[in-house]
Amino acid sequence: MQTWNTQLYDGKHGFVAKYGEELLGLLDAQPGEAVLDVGCGTGHLTAKIAESGATVLGLDSSADMIAQARVNYPALLFTHTDIVAFDQPKTFDAVFSNATLHWVRDANGAARAIAAALKPGGRLVAEFGGAGNIAGIATAVQAALRDATGQDVPHNWYFPTVGEYASMLETHNLTVHAAWLFERPTPLDGADGMRNWISMFGGGLFARAANLSNDVKRQVIERAEAHLFATHFKNGQWFADYRRIRIVAVR
Ligand code: BEZ
Repeated sequence: MQTWNTQLYDGKHGFVAKYGEELLGLLDAQPGEAVLDVGCGTGHLTAKIAESGATVLGLDSSADMIAQARVNYPALLFTHTDIVAFDQPKTFDAVFSNATLHWVRDANGAARAIAAALKPGGRLVAEFGGAGNIAGIATAVQAALRDATGQDVPHNWYFPTVGEYASMLETHNLTVHAAWLFERPTPLDGADGMRNWISMFGGGLFARAANLSNDVKRQVIERAEAHLFATHFKNGQWFADYRRIRIVAVR
């Protein structure tokens, strides 16, 4: 299971919330609307949604994230809940989700809960990792893990194609109005940007390798970083090979 260092998340990976701001334009929350923010993290985008005059509930499956969100924004509502278990039928005018749904292995359960939470006519506006997301980074870490431990470790994120995801939403009576899959090479902060990214987010890969000591893990990160230098370091800057899926669907 992924655990989060909320200080590192906000300090070195603030781009997560920054890119999410683009998605807020697509959400276009209106005063008086009820909005559910799925995967609210430390609450920064939840607060932006609230600035529109909507009533927002921030939801996250990480207790640490929710604790930090409550410290950051004591006036807002947050719930520590897994989206798959969320059960507030026909309550929200909109469900918003940024950089979260690739963490939810039970994607069908998440789609079911989201569809149920929407009022008829309510909308889902979501963005997360799509098919091929971080393929270069995952391949480099997997190769380094294989070299160091002999283990072949599949990643456990959910990175669907537009076709797969749209079809699944349709099975939950959502009508897909728009869908995109696009590259978003994402600059990482500082000379240690790639190793910080792998330390922060690589839990999905490392958790599946048996008997991984901290020493071996550090070696794996160093080897993966060295391997990625040729392709993911340009003009003094590390990049993550993000590829996003963005979806607007209506109940
Ligand atoms: C992403 O935002 O695409 C992502 C972040 C961490 C791990 C995997 C994917």
